[in-house]
Order: sequence, then C-alpha cells, then structure tokens
Amino acid sequence: MKVKLGLSAIAMAMLSGLAAAEAVPAPTGVAPEALDATKKIYFERCAGCHGVLRKGATGKNLEPANTQKLGQTRLEKIVAYGTEGGMPNFEDILTKEEITNISKYIMQTPDAPPEWGMKELQNSWKVAVKPEDRPKKQLNKINLKNVFSVTLRDTGEVALIDGDTKQIWGIVKTGYAVHISRLSASGRYVYVIGRDGKLDLIDMWFEKPTIVATIKIGLDARSVDTS
Ligand code: HEC
Repeated sequence: MKVKLGLSAIAMAMLSGLAAAEAVPAPTGVAPEALDATKKIYFERCAGCHGVLRKGATGKNLEPANTQKLGQTRLEKIVAYGTEGGMPNFEDILTKEEITNISKYIMQTPDAPPEWGMKELQNSWKVAVKPEDRPKKQLNKINLKNVFSVTLRDTGEVALIDGDTKQIWGIVKTGYAVHISRLSASGRYVYVIGRDGKLDLIDMWFEKPTIVATIKIGLDARSVDTS
C-alpha cells in the first residue's frame, strides 16, 4: 500500500510537470493588446544589438536568467537612460508604457523571430530619388577619393568628412543602429548599414551627401559589402 501511494504521488508529480510544459506559453506580463507592439519594438529596436534570440551580440545576453536578476525597476532604468558601456537611452524614443512593457517582455522566454523574407524586404524598399532624377554629374568639388564616412553612433548619423580639408562635408541621418559604411564600386555612392538591417544608399554627386534609397534587408545585420 505504501509503495502504491508513493508511485501514484510520483505519477501525479509527473502529470503536473507535463501539464506545465504543455500549457500555453508562460504569461508575458505584458497586456495581450500590447504584446504585438512590444515584440515589434524588441525586433526593431533591440535585436540588432542583443540578437533576435537575446543570446547577446554587441549588447549583453538578455535571456530571462539574466534579466530576471535585474528586475523590472532596474531594467526600466537601463532601457530609459542607457549605460556608459554602450547601451543607448530610449527615453526619448519609447513612451514610459513601452519601456515598462519591453522590460517585462525581456524577462520572459524569447519568442521565435518573425520572418523577414523577400516580401518584407521589398515592402521596405524606398527610393527617395529615382536614378533618372539624380545628378548627371558631380555637383560638388569634393575629392570623392578622399572622403571618410564616420559613424556617429549615439545620434544615429554618419558624418562624411572631406579628407583634403578635414572639414565635415555633410551629416546624414541613417538610424540609431548605424554600423558600417562601404563605398560603391564606382566610388559615387556610400552604403551605410545598421545593426537593425537598415541599409541606406548615399549619393555623393549632390551638393551635399543625400540618401537616395533605403531598404531593410533583415532584422539583424553586421556589415554590407560591395563588388
Ligand atoms: C546600439 C546597440 C544596442 C541597442 C540598440 C540596444 N542595446 Fe541594450 N545594451 C547594449 C550594450 C552594449 C549593453 C551593455 C552595456 C554595459 O555593459 O554597460 C546593453 C545592455 C543592456 C541591458 C543590461 C544587461 C545587463 O545584463 O546588464 C539591458 C536590460 C538592455 N541592454 C536592454 C535593451 C533593450 C530592451 C533594447 C531595446 C529597446 C536595447 N537594449 C537596445 C547595446 C544595445
């Protein structure tokens, strides 16, 4: 009798374990109506540095084992005000409520990343100045063979610096995660990509460097190359 009781107790424990494993995903703590928007914020604003599965990249690992130790209040502070170690501040980009939600969200098990396929890629493609509307010749006197593209990370811009005069020729708004600049084969364009996969094409034939096209090539990127 004793043994039987013991066994059934184990069986019960196993059953309840199973039930927990099969239950709907752990509650996120984020109100259901805000969940989609919060996921979107993560994938658009955070994944570029922390990885789509939160394993860490430039930014630290944000899996629950780490984030739960920090706790809601500390997480909100970090997200709002950033850190000196390179975490940007979001208090001027996200609302208070969004910061509360994203902090709750990163304490939960990571979601499978959304797909960013050809359709999303094509939909994100914006041509600001069509090829036929671009200058037919170089409209400035800058020596394009000696231009530096310098990442201004915290302001989400690149500065194109005239290497001959050492003057800033122009500053271009590229996005908060701007990371790598690459020259086109012709030497006329600069490609700038952010960790969030946003790629800008800057035309250096205008009076001032000008973004002529943009596309988001994925949710997470480290570099771009040209040939
Ligand atoms: C431009 C890159 C970048 C982006 C974008 C970014 N982070 Fe970070 N984050 C970092 C870096 C780098 C650190 C490490 C900072 C340090 O050690 O001081 C960090 C640290 C953190 C930490 C502290 C982790 C710890 O264990 O101390 C949290 C929490 C965090 N980020 C959340 C977020 C959230 C949420 C977002 C999106 C709203 C985000 N980050 C976007 C780069 C980024």
